[in-house]
Amino acid sequence: MMKRIFLSVPHLCGREIEYIRAALDSNWVAPLGPNVDAFEDELKGYLGRYVVALSSGTAALHLALLACGVGRGDEVITQSFTFCATANPVVYLGATPVFVDSERDSWNIDPDLMEEAINDRVAKTGKTPKAIIPVSLFGMPYQIDRILEVADRYGIPVVEDAAEGLGSRFDGRLVGTFGKFGIFSFNGNKIITTSGGGALVCGSVGEKEKIKWYATQAREEYPFYQHEAVGYNYRLSNVSAGIGLGQMTVLEEHIAYRKRVRELYGKLLADVPGIEVHDNPDPRYDSNFWLTTVTIDPSVRIRGQEDAYKGSKPRTGFEPGNNVEALRVFLDKAGIEARPLWKPLHRQPVFKDAPAYLNGVSDGLFEVGLCLPSCPNVSTEDIRHIVQMIKDSIA
Ligand SMILES: Cc1ncc(COP(=O)(O)O)c(C=O)c1O
Repeated sequence: MMKRIFLSVPHLCGREIEYIRAALDSNWVAPLGPNVDAFEDELKGYLGRYVVALSSGTAALHLALLACGVGRGDEVITQSFTFCATANPVVYLGATPVFVDSERDSWNIDPDLMEEAINDRVAKTGKTPKAIIPVSLFGMPYQIDRILEVADRYGIPVVEDAAEGLGSRFDGRLVGTFGKFGIFSFNGNKIITTSGGGALVCGSVGEKEKIKWYATQAREEYPFYQHEAVGYNYRLSNVSAGIGLGQMTVLEEHIAYRKRVRELYGKLLADVPGIEVHDNPDPRYDSNFWLTTVTIDPSVRIRGQEDAYKGSKPRTGFEPGNNVEALRVFLDKAGIEARPLWKPLHRQPVFKDAPAYLNGVSDGLFEVGLCLPSCPNVSTEDIRHIVQMIKDSIA
């Protein structure tokens, strides 16, 4: 049977089982325990800030926004070009996401447009947005210096969605450590995994304790169950944290590998006109290249592109170009998983009523972009094969 090459799947180092076994042997099979504490300590050592281990990156965003005081009737500025998990927690809290488009170089939130959006929201609603969520898309850092400068001027806290950006740096500093809060995801497809899990990064013990309290049903300190606020069941399992501890031993390796993957695609695709591999815009950016992404010019003709969408599901009215879909299908048939870029959230029916400040960048990228297999399970041979398949697909 043909081997399938996946976009991004877990890469275990083998030591995970030691920590899982310790959890089972000691009967710490619960959403707390020594592995959770040790995983938080390891992350704190790496990031240099306080960390709360949680059940997912989405849960981390939810609690970060809650801790920023986001509630019913508020607005939160988010990057439109992202996965739905960035904006869903805004809605969980009864608030409205306000989508801001991207800048061309990093593909992340455009700080000028963001400031325009803030001013317009204040003019229209009389209220300043309650938080700003930039997103490290595909691992690429955002212009955090400009974002913080604007946010500080308006007194708005920044929650960094660094779910995809563990190990990425801007001006030498790790993303996720700049804002009031930062979040990471340890889903199976991320830089490191706990199967499912996430982390919230904060600047003080007080904030850490408050987040832990929210994440454990807001239980008060009494010998009986006393609750004075609505809480959540969001802590990470001690078994899952064991996977995370094993993964921490190979974090730097995983980051280095994904960077090498990006480099190799760049080298091998350099002679293909119309296909461009996304890169760090300037030396301040140091992406972990969680996924290597390419843009395919509409002039590149891919075999079978005339029939690209024939027989597919009902059209949604806004889709990647025919050549991009044809390339995806061509690779799929060759056993290679490729995926379009995130469809901008202002284009998602579920968010159709949310305010959006647009400049065409994320729409344009969605129409021409594709993510390529990028994880440590993808060998040099695999990448050579993938690039050969891309070349073969061109008509
Ligand atoms: C940009 C972004 N934000 C948030 C999340 C949510 O993380 P999780 O899947 O751990 O809830 C993800 C990943 O899934 C993501 O890619």
